[in-house]
Amino acid sequence: MSASFDTLLYETNQPGVATVTINRPEKLNALNDNVLNELAEVFKQINIDDTVRGCILTGTGDKAFVAGADIKELRELNEHRGRMASQKGQQIFQLIEDTRKPVIALVNGYALGGGAELAMACHLRVATENAVFGLPEVGLGLIPGYGGTQRLPRIVGRAKALELILTGKQLSAEQAQQIGLVNRVVSQDYGWEEVEKMMDAILKNGPLAVKQAMRAVYHSDHKSGFQIESELFGYLCGTDDAEEGLSAFLEKRKPNFKGI
Ligand code: COA
Repeated sequence: MSASFDTLLYETNQPGVATVTINRPEKLNALNDNVLNELAEVFKQINIDDTVRGCILTGTGDKAFVAGADIKELRELNEHRGRMASQKGQQIFQLIEDTRKPVIALVNGYALGGGAELAMACHLRVATENAVFGLPEVGLGLIPGYGGTQRLPRIVGRAKALELILTGKQLSAEQAQQIGLVNRVVSQDYGWEEVEKMMDAILKNGPLAVKQAMRAVYHSDHKSGFQIESELFGYLCGTDDAEEGLSAFLEKRKPNFKGI
């Protein structure tokens, strides 16, 4: 993809891995309308770009991942525009979650409000030690509006989610890991290394299997998830990748997946 954005940096340093960096450091990478539009654009492109197999999402600087929705813009909302803004944010974050290529958030500082919700819409989260998570909306007289009331209970359970949403209290990276909100915590110097290692560990596997495993896991909230798991399992059993993966094990060699 050759795209340039006002509020995002887009790079592909590692082959097949897109890096999207939210780049509004003067406002701690807060999500204004422009950032949201560009996030939608970049993830639409990532979805259709066959050369991209995974994505790392982070924020510029070492202070913030994303310090929330832009509070200046929130103040301008009335009831109708508030509902529209919430629906728009939800749709864009759903687009990220629906990306069938692993999206890993590198949470490198404050992940508050919309920032925490954005991290939750990613499939996996690596936090640096200075990361701070929180949903402070109730303190602003609001509630999380970009999917946080739905995703947080799915990730950490209802009781913990309610505690965080109702108190608005902040969690350190370590506390976030303890409740399962982040997969790993590493020192600031090792954030990139860790996230690239995690991506490598995923991308060395059968590409079709990775994609279908993500689909199956995201159906785990529904009863139909069991049926979908069986359908996807059956589908994969008929692919060249499964033939190759199983044969490679039996022949004591590394598999050479072709994604077919
Ligand atoms: N929306 C808009 N602007 C924001 C912002 C947000 N969510 N978060 C930070 N900023 C801006 C500040 O207004 C400030 O801009 P200015 O220099 O023009 O005054 C700049 O980013 C730096 O923030 P500042 O508050 O000076 O940094 P800090 O280190 O003192 O505090 C935070 C950092 C994250 C604790 C603090 O910025 C904060 O509480 N932000 C809001 C978090 C929040 O409630 N988010 C949820 C919104 S729903």
